[in-house]
Amino acid sequence: MIKKQIKVAPSLLSANFLDLRKEIELINISEADYLHIDVMDGHFVPNISIGFPLIEQVATICEKPLDVHLMVEKPEQYFDRLFNIGVSMISVHVEQNIHHHSLIQKIQNNNVKAGLVLNPFTSVELIYDNLPYIDFVLIMSVNPGFGGQEFLPFTIKKVEKLSNFIEKEKLNCLIEIDGGINLENAKELINAGVDIIVAGTSIFKAYNPLEVIKELKK
Ligand code: DX5
Ligand code: ZN
Repeated sequence: MIKKQIKVAPSLLSANFLDLRKEIELINISEADYLHIDVMDGHFVPNISIGFPLIEQVATICEKPLDVHLMVEKPEQYFDRLFNIGVSMISVHVEQNIHHHSLIQKIQNNNVKAGLVLNPFTSVELIYDNLPYIDFVLIMSVNPGFGGQEFLPFTIKKVEKLSNFIEKEKLNCLIEIDGGINLENAKELINAGVDIIVAGTSIFKAYNPLEVIKELKK
């Protein structure tokens, strides 16, 4: 069996914003595959995080593709700005929208990979019909809105269930996991079928972030 290459997306939310250039430069020289950016509007989640003036500047120095996670009530309002920035991936929450397919098409028509996000307690079956049309599913393993929360272990079963379905149907859809991921729980998640690991605290607050990224990819 061919061993798949796990991809890692450090989450900017846990970076030191007072030293942002240094943090981005660290990611540039790391083995990270993407930079994960959380956008919040204070409505869909009870927090506000990173806005467009910052994302636009980060994009000018970040050499990794940008993976934007939209935790907002009206994701389509932000699409054009994200397309102009040149992001690589955009994900929208299934809980927030009913017109998933049209949002996905808008994203993909601009040559950006499109994903649907599931909160920890949203069941994976809800998006089975969407799977042939999307590039990835982002499973939240904490309640969205804040970095540094504790991983919810039952989400491993969700990854397993989704991964089995994707394999059975021979679909081309990746699984991303986000929230409370560290070197301890990553192994089980990879065995369960995860392709992309998002990690904030365990990378940016580590003594040696470069080493943690390298280890996560193993
Ligand atoms: C939470 C965000 C995550 C967060 C992850 O709503 O979607 O991307 O930054 O941070 P950690 O890895 O610290 O849980
Ligand atoms: Zn996120």
